[in-house]
Amino acid sequence: MLKSFPLDQETPAGKAIMGRLGKFPIPQKGFPPAYKTYIDFNMSDSYERLLEGNRIFVARKNHEDPTFFQRLSVGQQPKYLWIGCSDSRVPNDQITSTNPGEIFTTRNIANLVDHTDMSMLSVLDYAVNHLKVDHIIVCGHYSCGGVRAAMSNQHHGLLDNWLRNIKDVYRLHHEELDAITDVDERERKLVEFNVTEQVFNVCKTSIVQQAWVDNKSHLPRVHGWVYDVANGEIKRLHVDYQTDAEFHDIFRFSDK
Ligand code: CO
Repeated sequence: MLKSFPLDQETPAGKAIMGRLGKFPIPQKGFPPAYKTYIDFNMSDSYERLLEGNRIFVARKNHEDPTFFQRLSVGQQPKYLWIGCSDSRVPNDQITSTNPGEIFTTRNIANLVDHTDMSMLSVLDYAVNHLKVDHIIVCGHYSCGGVRAAMSNQHHGLLDNWLRNIKDVYRLHHEELDAITDVDERERKLVEFNVTEQVFNVCKTSIVQQAWVDNKSHLPRVHGWVYDVANGEIKRLHVDYQTDAEFHDIFRFSDK
């Protein structure tokens, strides 16, 4: 597989990597005269390419910012919690041009927020009550295999129990969805409805409800986005909450 990686030829780390990759041609013409150049090299699809990729990552980061890793080792202060799909095509830091340390993250199949999912609840609690993130983003994506599977009547084994959550989303919006004759269009709409419902689920958790009641100076804001794997763009849905005013009283808590 042919891959391109930015590489700094002038730093010791860059030279070391170039030394290891010495058998591969280094382009001389048509590249920026600055320290950065790009090399193409063939690497097998084995796990080794991940480790080599890591060495390149370290060399690049150290060159861009020599204090980068030292700073991160002190601790994290992310402003965002990202609840996304596990899909390999939706890496949240790459699609938002953010660095390590900026986004606290939990991902699962079809970006679901299930109030019995201890992993999700723990992440949400830590993000809201300890990291005190400003924004909670539920980001779904078009062409989501989980949503597609949930729309079908096929068995998928254990996964069917997880996807049941999406079937419930379909049931809630079945009139609008059934009226869409184009299957792809219907699937895109279900992706959007699924994000909207998961945003509601975030807002309905005791964690966010309590935060909105308790922390008048710090109200986490919950957003719903959809990423389009076909063009790399993020679309904001019209779901954006920072108060429980729009939610039924039944979800509220009071210590009185
Ligand atoms: Co997905």
